[in-house]
Parts: sequence; C-alpha cells; structure tokens
Amino acid sequence: MAAADFVFKVIVVGDSGVGKTNLLLRYTQSEFDLNHASTLGVELSRVEQHIDGDHVMVDFWDTAGQERFKSLNKVYFRGAHGVILVYDITNKHSFEQLKSWYKVAKDNGCDPVKCVYMMIGNKNDLEDLRAVDSSEGVVFARTINANFFETSALSSDNVENAMNDLIEEIHRQNKSGLSMQNEDTVQLKEGREIKSKSGCCSKE
Ligand code: GTP
Ligand code: MG
Repeated sequence: MAAADFVFKVIVVGDSGVGKTNLLLRYTQSEFDLNHASTLGVELSRVEQHIDGDHVMVDFWDTAGQERFKSLNKVYFRGAHGVILVYDITNKHSFEQLKSWYKVAKDNGCDPVKCVYMMIGNKNDLEDLRAVDSSEGVVFARTINANFFETSALSSDNVENAMNDLIEEIHRQNKSGLSMQNEDTVQLKEGREIKSKSGCCSKE
C-alpha cells in the first residue's frame, strides 16, 4: 500500500436503520443495498484522496446502531478525528437520539476541540414521509458546531458533498495544527495495513 501523509479515523454513529452502512457503501463503492443486514459490532472501510498535494487515507468505522451495542461503541471513539452523527429524516426519534449519540462521542474521547463533527439527515428521497424539518437539523447542528447535510444513500444526493466536506475539514484542521493535541494526527511515513473493503476507490 502506498505511503500516506495522513491517516484519519472517522466514526459513524446513529440509531439502527438510519442508513449508516448504506451511506458508506454509496461513498466508498457507489453501491446501495436495500436489504443490507443490520451491522453487528463494527465494520471498517477505507477511502483514499489527494487533498492539496497530500495523500490522505480515511478509515471509516461503521458502528452498530442497535441498543445492545451502544456500550460497545464507546471504545471506538479513542483517537478519532471525526464523527458522523446520522439520523433518518422520516424518523423523529432517530433525530432526538442524536443528543445522546453526541454525548457518548464527547464523553469517550471525541472532545469537540479535537474532533470534527458532521451531522447527516439521511433518506431525503422520502420527502413525503419527512418527520424532521431541515430547520430543526440546522438548529441542532449549530449547537454542536457541526456542518449539516441532508442526503440520500439511495439516490446519492449530497453523499459525496457531505463526506468530502468532513474530510477536507479534518485535513484543514490537522494542517493548521488546531488538533495538535490529538496524538494520532502525526504524519505517517508508511500507510498502516488495516482491514478494508475491496473496491474502495481512490478519489483524485
Ligand atoms: P444498523 O447497522 O442496524 O445500525 O443500521 P444502518 O444505520 O447501518 O442502516 P442501513 O444502512 O442498514 O439501512 C437501513 C435500511 O434503510 C435499509 O433497508 C436501507 O436500504 C434503507 N436506506 C438506507 N439509506 C436510505 C436512503 O437514503 N433512502 C431510502 N429510501 N432508504 C435507505
Ligand atoms: Mg449498519
């Protein structure tokens, strides 16, 4: 594997069924799976990008939204550079739960000073079933200082925009030294070999 200038760790959390796995499938493999099984534990996938001349690798940690895995998820936040909080725009409860997902992330190693937060309202192809106004999303995102996108893993709408925005922000913060307290942000001479999904794309 080619040497990377930066390796970033991004954790994806949110209630079961909001579309975390499909958002990553869409972004990393341009795929969508209507019948994808619920994630058990955690699944890793990687994307590579070139940003401002740097070779950047991003390891996405796709966590399980089911309640029984909630305590397990806590250990994953250590050393993370970014957190994606996902809800389903047709499911008000999944939106209300973001407060608690945010707290879990914050209390377990993702201090907002070190970690970049992104909020995603997924399934915006289901406009007729919408239960959460965009304005509600905007207001909450503002309170946690996160950028906010409404997306559809099904139609691809905004998925690239949201993910690229997060990666660029993490890269920018690391370059400017805002996250220097995070020991995992050192420049790597060699890329780490970790489990990655096949077909992962290089986005140059
Ligand atoms: P857990 O792994 O249990 O935490 O769930 P998850 O958040 O990973 O959800 P997953 O990606 O497995 O998607 C759950 C269901 O929602 C599946 O049936 C998907 O096909 C569907 N789904 C995901 N994203 C979208 C979307 O953007 N639009 C629509 N209409 N359905 C979606
Ligand atoms: Mg999943």
